[in-house]
Amino acid sequence: GPELAALVAGGTVDVQDFPKPGIVFKDLMPFFGDGPAFKRVIDGIVTHYGPGSFDVVAGVEARGFVLAAAIAYATGVGVVPVRKAGKLPRPAFSATYALEYGEATLEVHEGAFVPGQRVLVVDDVLATGGTAGATMDLVEQAGGVVSGFTVLMELGFLKGRERLGPRTVHALLTV
Ligand code: PRP
Ligand code: MG
Repeated sequence: GPELAALVAGGTVDVQDFPKPGIVFKDLMPFFGDGPAFKRVIDGIVTHYGPGSFDVVAGVEARGFVLAAAIAYATGVGVVPVRKAGKLPRPAFSATYALEYGEATLEVHEGAFVPGQRVLVVDDVLATGGTAGATMDLVEQAGGVVSGFTVLMELGFLKGRERLGPRTVHALLTV
């Protein structure tokens, strides 16, 4: 609700012209560093999805890892890391996509999920939706079923939600 949105907003600093001129970078590091706020928000996400609604959490490197591990620990499930290119040691599925600033490739191990496993996909920010779309495609290629996608913050003006089509997006805060 609005209380959790305020905690995220209160821990976010807008950084002008990072990493490129014209980009306003949403720096959530102050939020990550605020123990009580972090705990309340993680607990709020867990409550939103309800007990037993996913079998594993997929976190997107790098900032998504912070949230994914906390949600997994709080619910007693495991984490599957979705990694930037070249980091995974075993055969992996790969997806390249356009970012608000540049291009990126994400990978997930083949067989990362038990077939049919319900996967909660977690990241910090939904911007253009490229990262989220690639991640959800990778989860499905690797045998998972996306049961939800959650972010702390959605940049509404970039229309990422539209790019994701019918998939359900849970954002605590939309700016
Ligand atoms: C940022 C952010 C999201 C993504 C959102 O990650 O953490 O993962 O961009 O952008 P999109 O919706 O336009 O795809 P970034 O790739 O900058 O890397 P990081 O998490 O490793 O900092
Ligand atoms: Mg990221």
